[in-house]
Amino acid sequence: MTQYRVSIVGTGYVGLSTAIGFAIKGYIVTTLTHDSEKATKINIGIPPFHEPQLQENLKKAVNKKLLKCTLNAAEAILNTDITFIATGTPSQSDGSIDLQYIEKSASEIGEALKKKKSYHLIVVKSTVVPGTTEKTVKPVIEKYSGKQCGVDFGLCMNPEFLRQGAAIHDTLHPDRIVIGEYDKKSGDTLEALFREFYSENTPPVLRTNLPTAELIKYASNAFLATKISFINAIATICEKTPGADVTMVARGMGLDKRIGSLFLNAGLGYGGSCFPKDVKALVAHSKNLGYSIKLLEEVESVNKAQPLKVIQFCKEFLGNLKGKNIAILGLAFKPDTDDMREARAIPIINQLLIEGANVTAYDPVAVPIAKTIFKNKIQYATSAISCLKNADCCIIVTEWDEFKKLKPEDFAESMRQSIVIDGRRIYSPKDFKDFKFAAIGLGH
Ligand code: UGA
Repeated sequence: MTQYRVSIVGTGYVGLSTAIGFAIKGYIVTTLTHDSEKATKINIGIPPFHEPQLQENLKKAVNKKLLKCTLNAAEAILNTDITFIATGTPSQSDGSIDLQYIEKSASEIGEALKKKKSYHLIVVKSTVVPGTTEKTVKPVIEKYSGKQCGVDFGLCMNPEFLRQGAAIHDTLHPDRIVIGEYDKKSGDTLEALFREFYSENTPPVLRTNLPTAELIKYASNAFLATKISFINAIATICEKTPGADVTMVARGMGLDKRIGSLFLNAGLGYGGSCFPKDVKALVAHSKNLGYSIKLLEEVESVNKAQPLKVIQFCKEFLGNLKGKNIAILGLAFKPDTDDMREARAIPIINQLLIEGANVTAYDPVAVPIAKTIFKNKIQYATSAISCLKNADCCIIVTEWDEFKKLKPEDFAESMRQSIVIDGRRIYSPKDFKDFKFAAIGLGH
């Protein structure tokens, strides 16, 4: 029997994966959303997005009555001991984050807490700029509950480091747990929950104050984004250096323990709902503090230029792209997800359309979402092979495993011209020596 009952506000990647993690470990979890359609789906075991291991674990959790989704904040708060806030913090036009969902969650929690007699811990899991938990979340909860932080309720900031596509795995096996605490009792309560959850497999736990925890999240994402833009900048040097290959450069660098081999894959740059938004938010936050963090502005500008390189490669092989058939393999921002937020496929396809090319695209799971973006401006294929049919050029945009298994013959037999552009470095250039072949970071 677990000691704590948990509620989670927000049913996106972070909220739902965290909820599933608790249910897998036998906790009773209540999730809270405002979207009644989403709640109905979750309550019959249908996940609202594609994520490995999510569907089977959600079904199990719902059947065992360990997880339910409610639209009623009071129900979520009054029947639990600890509430995680995992609502979105989208970008605004100046790059700063929009706190409206966080503020709404805090006010609803506060309203519900009014009726609660016992101590309750609130934990901010959403990515928020330093100062938000203390200066925004705390006063809103205090105002709506009439209670005092540190006396009637506790407050922590616990940044989340899970990756989409590996969300359940990362929830169950994190590298570290960061607990930003308003006071010792809040931190002790959250640490006790995590020690119970992970038992002998508890990873290192770092306890700190609230703004430091908030900054650890931004600094981590900004550093990983910097690593990616760094290797992409080196890739550009490789492209201008006959014989150089960025994959070997990265391997050679990564063997140095101080550098490490992870997140040194050169490609079309980073997309998704986190790195682009978080780098922008840190740039905006830093500007507000009177420090303009040029380093990260450059990280962004390398990232912006990266996807359009494949258009240049295309033109080098085909000249004018008007009327040319271009096959796009991969639409999602990374494999194992159907998420297309800030996907590299978007600027690439938009530019190809501006150039007058005919685009056919295939992705194992993201086509329904792509249809909402590109509508009937492009064709959608139902398999990689059918996508290649009659193509003048193929561009690899997302490194799905099924694309890695394609052989040069698969391209040669289907395409009108044997031209392949590897945007994610999934093929050995030697295998494509009879092709017109270009790749990010490959000297030519
Ligand atoms: C990222 C972080 O990795 C997580 O730790 C963090 O919790 C999450 O953001 C978040 O803030 O919520 P995620 O965006 O799901 O996770 O995916 P990543 O695997 O980090 O990939 C992000 C982008 O970087 C993808 O477009 C990927 O293709 C690109 N990437 C990644 C590269 O181009 N090269 C690499 O070597 C690694």
